[in-house]
Amino acid sequence: MIEDVQLRIPGPSPVPPQVALAMGQPMIGHRGSEFSALYERLIPFAKELFGTSGDVLFVTGSGTAGMETAVANIVSPGDKVLLLTCGSFGNRFGQILAAYGADVDRLEAPWGECIDPNAVATKLQAAGPYKAVFVTHNETSTGVANDLKAIGHAVHEFGQGALLVVDSVSALGGMEVRMDDWHLDIVVTGSQKALMLPPGLALIGVSERAWEVIDQAQSPRFYFNLKKYKASGDKAQTPYTPNIALLFGLEKTFALMQAEGLTNIYRRHDLMRDMVRAAIRALGLELLTADSCASSTVTAVKGSSEVPSEPLRKTLKEQFKVQVAGGQDQLKGEIFRIGHMGFAGPRDMLTIIASLECALAVHGKPEVLGRGVKAAQEVWLREVQR
Ligand SMILES: Cc1ncc(COP(=O)(O)O)c(C=O)c1O
Repeated sequence: MIEDVQLRIPGPSPVPPQVALAMGQPMIGHRGSEFSALYERLIPFAKELFGTSGDVLFVTGSGTAGMETAVANIVSPGDKVLLLTCGSFGNRFGQILAAYGADVDRLEAPWGECIDPNAVATKLQAAGPYKAVFVTHNETSTGVANDLKAIGHAVHEFGQGALLVVDSVSALGGMEVRMDDWHLDIVVTGSQKALMLPPGLALIGVSERAWEVIDQAQSPRFYFNLKKYKASGDKAQTPYTPNIALLFGLEKTFALMQAEGLTNIYRRHDLMRDMVRAAIRALGLELLTADSCASSTVTAVKGSSEVPSEPLRKTLKEQFKVQVAGGQDQLKGEIFRIGHMGFAGPRDMLTIIASLECALAVHGKPEVLGRGVKAAQEVWLREVQR
């Protein structure tokens, strides 16, 4: 039997058929008027999505390329920076900063918890000034959403001019980002998460204030030189051949997102989060994170001695055709992670939960059948009947 495995990892995420079709359009030259027209059509909604009147630039590369671009353009060797980290992707920012010779001070939260904005304010006052603060909006390795608005205000108030650089790779498009209102200076995202595209495109928002620092930064850079992207962008081009197929697809995802409306998109993601969390509890499994810092795009669930996460994940994929992700680094073998971002809705959550119940039944828990689905249905009904 040929049956698709449903991809429910926290990226890459499923690509809508309309988007896949759009990516198949005949190729165009990247120095021609058709490309510039496409570029100009993309910018207004890109700015709306980032919540900025500043620049949004396209760099061909994965999310990590976007993170490295941010570091290379802001940090000079020896610059003192503050890294806020609560998981594997925060630590990746730390590795990139170390590679660029930054003097990195860290404020860490235990894995599964979020960064406390008050602790950020205290740290900035006690140990600042810093050139920049680096933070992960949505820590995909643990399913934690940091309070970007509160962190933005803390850095604005107590940062003595420090820039705030944000990895929103697994949030932007599924969770609200307001660069200008929240005082965010550089925001990076990737195509393969809530933007419903294949991997390979980084989108980078840059504030007016960030350009002043970029002009002064001493780190070596060529492909990732943001000033080149800005100069070309002002002519509706990119400095090097972009992934044109992904930009065709981006135009279609933007059209789908505009039709749904950003407020509705964020509500849909919150609803998926709430359905999954209610179901996991009803199934007697343990969530890694508290409700107060739960991500709207990915949920981390603990395995137990009775039902360890890896065999459960294997059964879920092989027998019941739903692929979820495992844990990373120190959480490897300890948790599984359900992605609910982009091209996904409440009905898909019922499928995931029903399949998970089947997998749990195979692993000696037949009594759970129906419990998670019912809990998720109740959350969905409450939302519909509101
Ligand atoms: C929060 C976060 N940052 C960065 C990345 C790295 O992105 P990429 O794998 O596209 O380089 C990911 C990918 O999962 C992520 O979730």
